[in-house]
Amino acid sequence: MSERQSPEGLPRPIKWTRQDYSRVPFAVFHDPELYQREMQRVFGGPAWQFLGFAAEIPKPGDFRTAFLGETPVVYNRDMEGGIHAFVNRCAHRGSVVRREPYGNAKDHVCIYHQWCYGLDGSLLGVPFQRGLAGQGGLPADFKRSDHGLRRLRIENFRGALFANFDDAAAPLEDYLGEEIGGWLARLLKGEIRILGYQRQFIRGNWKLYAENSRDQYHGSLLHRFQGALITRTVTEGGLRLDPRHRHSLIYSMPGRKALEVDSARVQEDVVHDIDGADRLRRMTMLRHIDEYGDGVGSAICSLFPGVVFQRIRNSLATRVIRPKGLDAFELHWTLFGFADDSEELGAHRLLQANIGGPAGYVSLEDGEAIELVHNATKQASDEASLLEMGGIGPIPEHVTTRMNELSVRGFWSYYAELMGEEPEGGIR
Ligand code: FES
Ligand SMILES: [Fe+2]
Repeated sequence: MSERQSPEGLPRPIKWTRQDYSRVPFAVFHDPELYQREMQRVFGGPAWQFLGFAAEIPKPGDFRTAFLGETPVVYNRDMEGGIHAFVNRCAHRGSVVRREPYGNAKDHVCIYHQWCYGLDGSLLGVPFQRGLAGQGGLPADFKRSDHGLRRLRIENFRGALFANFDDAAAPLEDYLGEEIGGWLARLLKGEIRILGYQRQFIRGNWKLYAENSRDQYHGSLLHRFQGALITRTVTEGGLRLDPRHRHSLIYSMPGRKALEVDSARVQEDVVHDIDGADRLRRMTMLRHIDEYGDGVGSAICSLFPGVVFQRIRNSLATRVIRPKGLDAFELHWTLFGFADDSEELGAHRLLQANIGGPAGYVSLEDGEAIELVHNATKQASDEASLLEMGGIGPIPEHVTTRMNELSVRGFWSYYAELMGEEPEGGIR
């Protein structure tokens, strides 16, 4: 592969120095050309991407807007109950068609020249298609059927909607793999009830969040509150991956302690300055109702490229990464429970949502850590981060230690594949 230089003098293609992705060049977080390619290959290619829940559009005509990468999309329910998703961009001159975050309508009308689209995305009407008084208008052979909104493939996975730009991509089930798909199916155990939304704006490259949500190692270290009160360093836990290592499930089992660890000593290091958290007034916030009966206290399932399905005790949520340029992204949180939740459980889920989220006890620290990395690496394009925790070389599909960064390497291996940037002999 020949090496080119970007106008900014950054090296290209990506200079992987290890075939196992245990070094990640900082340039990948700061290269504008790579970012443009990511929008096409990572967010516009064969990866299945989470759109939202069917429960968000329960009635005929209900629609919601979202983003896949930076591409605006709209999804809706038609009059027969079918669900469709489109690129939210007018076939005429490219305006966003639906500007509202959600609503109910019989059609979608673009504000610019009022082209009108049906709930299946087809172009229904063009003002002055035949001109005015016999003059102007579109050519006689213009076919409305050739100019609908761009349709996306869609799959409904137990109420979670996933979209795909690539008609040739493998089905969602294959994409998820048995282990991760099975976990997701168990997580979405009933009819979904939406509890609310949160948004968090972070000034850093989106991939730093993809790393963060796969990184089990930082949990009880960066998050002092978590380390002291939610899941201690010595709690049993681990990591599961799909065979291609693109998705990650990190979990902990609070009822069990990992064996042969001097827990008093480990905790000594971790809890010395969390007096405030120890004096938390509403300890009920931490109560865990073992609704799944599996002893798992917290589980963070990250799907490539940009969604997390979270189960922190009884707080369930999706977090979607919405890149906003090279240097920023928004995390879009959807808090959910189930239609048959008791009122008490619904309220408990919302109370417990305060652990995460932009104003919570934990996730604001992730945003801070990401900004620290983003800013400190801007001028370090020839240097790389180090990912050796949990071992180097081939990536296993299951480990029972939480002190690892294995699925972060997994993320990079699939990223490199999609971007056409795998090093010679790179692992998968
Ligand atoms: S850009 Fe949408 S109608 Fe012209
Ligand atoms: Fe974190």
